[in-house]
Amino acid sequence: MNQEQQLMAVKQFSIKKLARDRTGHGMDHINRVVKNAARIANGEDYDPFLPQVAAYLHDTVDEKIVNSVEKAQDEVQSFLRQIELTDEQVSTVMETIKNISFAHTLEKQQISLSVTAQIVRDADWLDAIGAIGITRAIYYGGAHGEVIYDPKIKPRKKMNKQEYRNLDDETIINHFDEKLLGLKDKLFTPTAKEIAEHRQQVMLDFLDEFHQEWNAEA
Ligand code: ADP
Ligand code: NI
Repeated sequence: MNQEQQLMAVKQFSIKKLARDRTGHGMDHINRVVKNAARIANGEDYDPFLPQVAAYLHDTVDEKIVNSVEKAQDEVQSFLRQIELTDEQVSTVMETIKNISFAHTLEKQQISLSVTAQIVRDADWLDAIGAIGITRAIYYGGAHGEVIYDPKIKPRKKMNKQEYRNLDDETIINHFDEKLLGLKDKLFTPTAKEIAEHRQQVMLDFLDEFHQEWNAEA
């Protein structure tokens, strides 16, 4: 198989796993992360092939989405061997998809990531900020029964993974302070940092408007 065929096979695999997702990790998210990954790789003069492969697969082994993470990882790994990726390529993709989720970062902050993993994490995080990020936060919050906003509930600081997943007393607006506004400064690549500037401003403007309207000042 050539790389184009491999990429198509990976896309099909990802569609099979994620097309029915309604948690904000469906194919629209995946396709945007793949595009972001290619854009970042090109900006960094890096071969976009592995970042795109890993971007397609990055949510197929997530504990939120699959029953058994280990089984899902085994399945992805044998699939990658089957479509004839080299051992080195397989291990880069596996390292990437095991290590880039935000929840994972809360647990293991020191981990050093390959360039492919850095690109895919940036690509994924770009999809959590800006107008799309706002929409996904509201979608996720609504699906999980969060209130929109409550000035009495203060944003939680310095969460660990369990606290991040515990949604008691979580509000959609607090999610911006707790996570989304801080993502920009944790991006790895200059290309992603540049894209993030505008998206950050979109969120800041949105929050500003939100508070003015909440207080009936606008
Ligand atoms: P990732 O897949 O990057 O690990 P998550 O699964 O934690 O991210 O989040 C998926 C999407 O839902 C992201 O856009 C994220 O910002 C949003 N989200 C996660 N937790 C919350 C929350 N408590 N309230 C609102 N939005 C959330
Ligand atoms: Ni993702």
